[in-house]
Amino acid sequence: GPERATEIRSLIRDVPGYPHEPIVFRDITPLLADGAALADVVEAFARLCEGDGGHQVDVVAGMEARGFLLGAPLATRLGVGFLPLRKAGKLPPPVERVDYELEYGTAAIELRTGTLRPGARVLLVDDVLATGGTAVAAAELVERCGGEVVSLAFLMELGGLGGRERLAGRTVETLLRVDGAGES
Ligand code: PRP
Ligand code: MG
Repeated sequence: GPERATEIRSLIRDVPGYPHEPIVFRDITPLLADGAALADVVEAFARLCEGDGGHQVDVVAGMEARGFLLGAPLATRLGVGFLPLRKAGKLPPPVERVDYELEYGTAAIELRTGTLRPGARVLLVDDVLATGGTAVAAAELVERCGGEVVSLAFLMELGGLGGRERLAGRTVETLLRVDGAGES
């Protein structure tokens, strides 16, 4: 309920100006350290995903690094496996690779060729939706590897940074929403 949402929000530490202005870093470490809150978040994700008719996912995929921390326990809760989408250079070849833009600079994520069963129904999980660059790249990577992205779930959506718009046409679930552009 809303009280739990307020408590969960209070366990995400905002750090203005990190790694540099105008970014507000969202540190989920206090939330991860709180056993009851972490369990609540995983349960809330599970309910969201079972909610819309039950997406019937075959596998949960998480974006390195913070998507691993929420995605793996969610996979366990849903009774499915977990697929790590790695940042570039961590996996032996052959890999599929998708390059994307960050607010400043570029990045890439990779998945080992042949890891995903063709037609697998994939739930993508990450901590934060900001510009959507990471999420769009992750969805493209899964699809290039033959998977179907049934929905994307985020702990926190930062409004005003364009992420929701860039994911238009996809199913997007978020547990918390804040105004990302208006904060300092
Ligand atoms: C952060 C966050 C999301 C992404 C959101 O990851 O965990 O994955 O940025 O931003 P976007 O919507 O503008 O792409 P980051 O790559 O900073 O680092 P991490 O390895 O700690 O997850
Ligand atoms: Mg991340």
